[in-house]
Amino acid sequence: MKNSRIGSFLTVVLSLLVVYALVKWGIPVVSREVTSLPFPLPVPGTLMFFYMTLTVIALFLMVTYSEEGLEDFLRPVKKLLRGGYGKPVRTVVLTVIPALVGWQVYETTVPKLQVPASLRIQHPSSNFPISFESKKNPIANPVDADIDAFVAQAKENEVVFIEQVQPDIDAWLEENEPDNTLEFFASEPMKKFVAQLADDKVDRETAKAALLEKNLFEGRALYAMNCRPCHGDSVAGDGPMADGFKLRPINFTDNGTIETIVEGYTFWRVTNGGPGLPTEATPWDSAMPEWKLSLTEEERWKIILAEYDMAQKTPRIPESH
Ligand code: HEC
Repeated sequence: MKNSRIGSFLTVVLSLLVVYALVKWGIPVVSREVTSLPFPLPVPGTLMFFYMTLTVIALFLMVTYSEEGLEDFLRPVKKLLRGGYGKPVRTVVLTVIPALVGWQVYETTVPKLQVPASLRIQHPSSNFPISFESKKNPIANPVDADIDAFVAQAKENEVVFIEQVQPDIDAWLEENEPDNTLEFFASEPMKKFVAQLADDKVDRETAKAALLEKNLFEGRALYAMNCRPCHGDSVAGDGPMADGFKLRPINFTDNGTIETIVEGYTFWRVTNGGPGLPTEATPWDSAMPEWKLSLTEEERWKIILAEYDMAQKTPRIPESH
C-alpha cells in the first residue's frame, strides 16, 4: 500500500485530525475571506457531524478494501494488545480510552444548571388598552384642514416650528435672509412647494408632502434629543448608552420590532415606557422612559413618524382593516 511507510493506522488518525481541523478552523477562515465580514462563520455542529461521518466511511472503505490493507491497519492495534509496545503503555491506553469515553457519556447525560431562556414578551397584551390599536398617527395622516392651515401659514411666511428647533432656524435665517423660512429645507418636495407658493398656485398633494417634510425634520430633531442616546443615530439600538442596559434598547431596523406592531401600540409603548409594562415583562426590566411625562402627544407622534422613516419601515396595519 502507498501509505504503508507511515502505516495505515497512522494515516487514518492523521486524516481524521486534518479533516476535523479543516472543517473546524479552515472553513471559517475561508468564509471570512469570501464574505469580507468582520467575523468568521462557524460550521454548524450538524454539518460537522456529516463531514466527520463521511470521512470515517471513506477511511473505512480504504482500510477494508483488501485483506492486506486491513492487516496493515490492525497490525499496530494487535501489537499494542499483545504488549508489543511494553506493558505499561498497554495499561495506560486501556485505562485512558475507556475513561475518556466514560467521561464523555457522563458529560452529555448529567443534568446541568442552565440560565432560563428569555421568555420576555415583546408585545404583552394584558394591559395594552385596546383603544390604542386603531389609533393612527395624526402627523403621518394630516387631514385637509391641517394642510390648509399649513398653506395659509406658509403664504404669510408664518409657519410655526416647535421651540426645540427654533434657535437653529433663527441662526440660519440671520445668515441667509431668505424670502420664505421654508427655504431652510433643501429637499425636493419643499422646493416644489415654495415655488408653487411664489406663483400662488399651490396644490394640496405638494402641500401635504411639504408639511410631512417639516414634521419629519422636527421628529428627527426630537429623536436626536430624546431617544438617540439609547436607540442610536441609525435607530439600530446602538446609542452611546445602549451597552449600559441589561435589556438592550431595541433595534428598529430589525424586522421583528416596530414593523410588527401597529402605530397605536408604538405610541402606547413610547407613552408609557418600561414602567408601563406588565409583570410578565420582568425581571428583564426595561430602561425605556415614560415619555408622557416629558413629551407632548404631538411630539411623541412626530418622533414615531421619524422613527419609522429612519428605520425604513412601515407600521403594521391593524387586523380590523
Ligand atoms: C434610557 C434609554 C432609552 C431611551 C432614552 C429611549 N429608549 Fe426606547 N427602549 C429602550 C429599551 C431598553 C427598550 C427595549 C426594551 C423594551 O422593549 O422595553 C426600548 C424599546 C422601545 C420601543 C419598543 C419597540 C417594540 O418593538 O416593542 C419603542 C417603540 C421605543 N423604545 C421608542 C423610543 C423612543 C421614541 C424614544 C425617544 C422618545 C426612546 N425609545 C428612548 C431604552 C430607551
